[in-house]
Amino acid sequence: MKNSIVFGASSGIGKQLARFLVEDGYKVVVTGRRKELLEELKSENPEAYIIKAFDVQDLKETSFVFNTIVTNLKTIDLIIHASGIGLVNEDLDWKKEFDTLKTNVLGATRIYNLAFNLFKKQGFGHLVSITSIASLRGNRFAPSYFASKAYQVNYLESLYFKSKEIKGGKVYVTDIRPGFVDTRMALGDGIFWMASLEKASKQIYRAIRLKKRRVYITKRWNIIACVLKIAPSWLIKKLT
Ligand SMILES: NC(=O)c1ccc[n+]([C@@H]2O[C@H](COP(=O)([O-])OP(=O)(O)OC[C@H]3O[C@@H](n4cnc5c(N)ncnc54)[C@H](OP(=O)(O)O)[C@@H]3O)[C@@H](O)[C@H]2O)c1
Repeated sequence: MKNSIVFGASSGIGKQLARFLVEDGYKVVVTGRRKELLEELKSENPEAYIIKAFDVQDLKETSFVFNTIVTNLKTIDLIIHASGIGLVNEDLDWKKEFDTLKTNVLGATRIYNLAFNLFKKQGFGHLVSITSIASLRGNRFAPSYFASKAYQVNYLESLYFKSKEIKGGKVYVTDIRPGFVDTRMALGDGIFWMASLEKASKQIYRAIRLKKRRVYITKRWNIIACVLKIAPSWLIKKLT
């Protein structure tokens, strides 16, 4: 049986991916702070899920939980990082900025770091992170969210480069960049090109199985990505 960990599986994309993994016969460790939601997920297939409820902002706890999982399961084939927050913060409220950095930068780095070092030791493994199309440019409504996603994307690319240091070529890094997906994070009505959670998760899962390096979700966001990469800052400033 293959083993996996999904960080941020109490709701949204992580939860859906955890379900797909269980359908494919994986043992899945699911994490998040909302224990009751993790218990609800586990009740769908009690044998397949292991619950670890904790806050990824607590870096010591994150390491402790990770090491406990590895001690119990021995090897991990797939680690999906889907724990993240996205706060609109037009007033640059420091608490919101700091909260975003603690979750999306510090928490994420700890998880990337633990995962990569484990895979290096094992000689195999697949790290997947749900970053965002937000990684491509700045944004005046949520500066720390957009910057945190740029950080994640660059860190993951570094790990991809670093994977050449591991003999055998069996360590993979996948960067998943969604546009808008209908979860609690994408609040509001009439959001542009919002994908259903089901459609987005299916495309994400397919990319994971194919061990893609990077992918935009849904596919049509490739067009937006191309535009964002070449649009001058003055134009984005004018239009947004
Ligand atoms: N939805 C979109 O439109 C969209 C677009 C691009 C990228 N993304 C990215 O996709 C990822 C998943 O988000 P989602 O859309 O599925 O939203 P979501 O339903 O809010 O899922 C976020 C997950 O992260 C966990 N999490 C957040 N803060 C945490 C903390 N401090 N400690 C532990 N777990 C924490 C949440 O669990 P608890 O609350 O239970 O702790 C939850 O399981 C995020 O990284 C997000 O940036 C989403």
